[in-house]
Amino acid sequence: MPPTPGNKRPLPFVGNKLDIPKEKSWMKFREWNEAYGPILTVWNGSTPTMLIGDPEIAVELMEKRSTKYSSRPRFVVAGDLLTENRTILFASYGERWRAYRKALHLATMPKSVDSYRPIMEMEGKVLAEQLISDPAGWYDHSSFRYTASSVVAAGYGRRILDIHTDSAYQKLTKNIEFLIRVNVPGAQWHETFPALRFLPSFLNPIKKAALYYRYQGRENSAALMDEVRKKMAAGVAPHSYAKQLLENREKYADLDDVEFNGQPGSLFGAGVDTTSATLQSLVLALILNPEVQERVGEELDRVVGSQRSPVWEDEANLPYVQAVIKEILRWRPVAILGGTPHASTEDDVLEWEGKQYFIPKGSIILGNLWSIHMNPKTYEDPEAFRPERFLNNRQYTGTGTKGHSSFGWGRRVCPGAYFAERSLFITASRLMWGFKFGKATDPRTGSVVEVDASMETGYTSGFNCRPKPFICAIVPRSEEIRETVEREARAAVEDLRVFENFYDDD
Ligand code: HEM
Repeated sequence: MPPTPGNKRPLPFVGNKLDIPKEKSWMKFREWNEAYGPILTVWNGSTPTMLIGDPEIAVELMEKRSTKYSSRPRFVVAGDLLTENRTILFASYGERWRAYRKALHLATMPKSVDSYRPIMEMEGKVLAEQLISDPAGWYDHSSFRYTASSVVAAGYGRRILDIHTDSAYQKLTKNIEFLIRVNVPGAQWHETFPALRFLPSFLNPIKKAALYYRYQGRENSAALMDEVRKKMAAGVAPHSYAKQLLENREKYADLDDVEFNGQPGSLFGAGVDTTSATLQSLVLALILNPEVQERVGEELDRVVGSQRSPVWEDEANLPYVQAVIKEILRWRPVAILGGTPHASTEDDVLEWEGKQYFIPKGSIILGNLWSIHMNPKTYEDPEAFRPERFLNNRQYTGTGTKGHSSFGWGRRVCPGAYFAERSLFITASRLMWGFKFGKATDPRTGSVVEVDASMETGYTSGFNCRPKPFICAIVPRSEEIRETVEREARAAVEDLRVFENFYDDD
């Protein structure tokens, strides 16, 4: 088998668990990959985890040999207790997973995503106006509101006007926050000792919370579906994924009501946190790299001008914008551990650099993006935020046409990648076209407020990682641009009214 870090013998029962930090385990994994090799074995109890730090090995196993490497490991808290494994994310490779993926395809295939583009565009216009009227609130609410509202409007035909007051948003978010907290390798003893799940809830706070969120999530999904049903009956339901599902219920007869109702919710669970974190990292990168802002601003001025904001058709003429978006996905990948790990379903042997490694059936396969994207063999000067590395269609072995591995691998690859890429293009280009981002000045002391992009101190821990809240200065790039932003936002708000037809969820 691949070596353990430092050839350290795993301890009986716990394996290497005590060596894995509870916070930001990906940083330790990267250190190990750099010191001991691109594929390592770490024992979680009696289950081996293959830590992969090289994009080519990730592709070799999870893409080229995808029939053997497309399942999921057992997750005691997030799988058995929280979801009963009845969601796409945790389902083992097989018939149930295929049924979930097929139903999700209705929302994530390019034709469907393209039908949601007007929502992303209009919500992006509203976001831009909020950066003018409330620049201080950009991190706390506007960035989350934008991604949540675009996903929930596409999912359920319902806008989110304010994340602090929208009850659907609140419930969906509390659920996903719990999931993000528990679903980190090494964070829960239940994963090492699955029998802990039988301890009664009053002695088992994490089980108690998981069961609470299981039923809270199901009730909320059912209520949101019901709202769409009622709107359909009244003839006022806008186009949405939930509406498409309900119109085709018989095609998804293999999903029971819990599974069926949960489908649009998986867009929220997988799509909101990831996309908002990527936009937040982008702003951080722009503040710290003024020369990138200058170059991207020149390109946008030339192609778009100030009388209108970027439109979809501009994309082909904006190579530097495209490169910035790729680079942000590489530099600070939100699904930092490669999303949810894969599990192997057959014994296998990997030949790599003259060595043969045995990978037993049932291994956990973890493509640690913090190792893979910072691997100097693939990316020169990997710590630097340098969009130029993606210009002229530069390819990187093991990363396909995207140039990075941020959306995962093989059969489990992120089904929402096209959705996310559309949302990122139209909104990241709007932010860079409309605004100059810089360091804020403390009004009391007059001193500059620094921002921190270091993974160690500036980022959160958790299964998705994002910059910790930061403040910054945001100003429109010109007076003409400010007028355009305000004019376009007024029109967008009117066009979005159709998504404001809420039904009281009590
Ligand atoms: C920047 C945004 C996003 C990033 C970086 C991202 C990344 C990922 C990654 C790394 C995985 C795991 C892939 C693997 O196991 O190999 C994943 C899975 C998934 N993503 Fe995304 N994602 C993003 C946005 C979205 C959006 C917008 C949606 C929905 C519209 C979505 C839906 C899903 C689903 C349902 C899965 C589970 C797939 C399965 O287990 O078969 N994601 N994503």
